Amino acid sequence: VTPQIVDKFGREHTYLRISITDRCNLRCFYCMPEEGIELTEKPKIMTLEEIVGIAEKFVNLGVDTIRLTGGEPLVRKNAGYLIKELADLGVTLKLTTNGIILDKYFDLFQEVGLRKINISLDTLEKSKSVFITKRDYFDRIMANINKAIDYDFDIKLNIVLIKGVNDMEINDFIDLTKDQDIGVKFIEFMPFKGNEWDWEKGVSKEEILETANSKFGEIVKLDDPEHSTSANYKVKGFKGHFGIVSTITNPFCAGCNRIRLTADGKMKNCLFATSETDLLNPYRDGKSIEDIILSSIKEKKFSRDGMDVEMEKEHYEQNRSMISIGG
Ligand code: GTP
Ligand code: 5AD
Ligand code: SF4
Repeated sequence: VTPQIVDKFGREHTYLRISITDRCNLRCFYCMPEEGIELTEKPKIMTLEEIVGIAEKFVNLGVDTIRLTGGEPLVRKNAGYLIKELADLGVTLKLTTNGIILDKYFDLFQEVGLRKINISLDTLEKSKSVFITKRDYFDRIMANINKAIDYDFDIKLNIVLIKGVNDMEINDFIDLTKDQDIGVKFIEFMPFKGNEWDWEKGVSKEEILETANSKFGEIVKLDDPEHSTSANYKVKGFKGHFGIVSTITNPFCAGCNRIRLTADGKMKNCLFATSETDLLNPYRDGKSIEDIILSSIKEKKFSRDGMDVEMEKEHYEQNRSMISIGG
């Protein structure tokens, strides 16, 4: 299918990120407000059949890759059924998860050919994990990451860096790539509703590279895949690689090919979009949502929904919390 979801800047959108639930079994402070979020009532959430039906419309318009996100996608009831149905659409399926119940799904993922799994792991220390996530699942997560590596899935670890919390672990994470062919992805802390963002707490791409250089010396820049969110590197001789997602200091929006669909069926043209397009209600009313998608994409701004380098609070406080966007 030729890509039809094209914006004013000629960017072809072939990659859909679907948040299949706004629930999560962790409480990471950078992702949700201290007081939690108001969960969407069930009737407003897409049913599994509606997710597949809406996804199919996107596929008809040229989407060839779907990443499932959340909340925590695997806590959605019958996530396994959904994954099978989406795999039947013939897309490349990917998943971003916190890893807690990942082991229940390995066989299914093998069966449907879901290979690419990104797992949030902000620290290699159990006590710090409890501090960040406010839950005590560290041992299970680590065990599941190791099992996933044994199963030979394509694994990347997602690390949101916060100064004074986990920035001293950068090189420990890179060390994991010495003997294992995995990716570790360092992410600049991004602002969303209620996450008390302050760039003083963030760690920049430049600082990450300096830290890596100070220990590992020879670091090789890799060719980044087209539309990559990360700039990728390898320590010479190491099996795996590391990447840096620098939304704040070096946005990569020129290559953006992403659309998002929230669990309540709203299309978001950008991670930072403050206006959204409802697809679920028109879909329920039997309307043609293809036209709605195609006209919505024309409203997409070039970079970060127009948020400037100061990342104005007035802008991101009007966005959702990360937990209900899915990243
Ligand atoms: P890969 O496909 O493995 O490169 O993963 P990804 O980076 O596309 O997705 P993932 O779900 O692992 O997200 C990692 C980080 O990248 C999270 O902090 C996301 O919010 C961020 N991210 C994902 N897509 C985008 C995007 O289109 N724009 C920006 N600015 N950040 C993104
Ligand atoms: N800034 C940057 N990345 C974030 N994530 C969650 N909240 C933030 C934030 N405030 C990342 C997590 C998760 C991915 C989907 O989004 O690492 O793996
Ligand atoms: Fe695309 Fe928005 Fe991310 Fe830029 S910030 S890459 S426009 S989703």
